[in-house]
Amino acid sequence: MATEAPLSPERRAFLGKVSIAVSAVAGALVGIPVVGFLLAPLLRSTAETWRTVGKIDSFQVGTTVRVTFVDPSPLKWAGVTAKTAAWLRRNGEDQFVAFAMNCTHLGCPVHWLQDAGLFMCPCHGGVYYSDGQVAAGPPPHALFKYPVRIRNGEVEILTSAVPLG
Ligand code: FES
Repeated sequence: MATEAPLSPERRAFLGKVSIAVSAVAGALVGIPVVGFLLAPLLRSTAETWRTVGKIDSFQVGTTVRVTFVDPSPLKWAGVTAKTAAWLRRNGEDQFVAFAMNCTHLGCPVHWLQDAGLFMCPCHGGVYYSDGQVAAGPPPHALFKYPVRIRNGEVEILTSAVPLG
């Protein structure tokens, strides 16, 4: 029966350092994302921002169209995910309404059906009228709205961080 020779002090010290290095790398792999997640809210701006979404003449009265803009609180590394959207409805010459894309039930993006004149949520069948009020399904209340203004012939909406309050 063979017996193992005891580790030399040098080898034992070397293996101890390797163990510490591997533990440090594993700790960093787990810890850095957790710290990033915890600090992310502090790095995001919560300021409301007016965003231009198009020239007033590019929207027809009585229509609802999707407009895109940059999220008012993107993280610096957000990339294309910083882009968000809203539904903009023109009710008259100077009358616009902007609805948040997200269903008030669980946040799925709603779709505008021009022929039906309704917003539909594909997730659980929520339905909204063209004015954003709930028509059917589980949504607890109307679509959130953004304030809208017209400046220098451009339509602007006041964006704020999701969820809109
Ligand atoms: S998320 Fe829209 S109905 Fe549930």
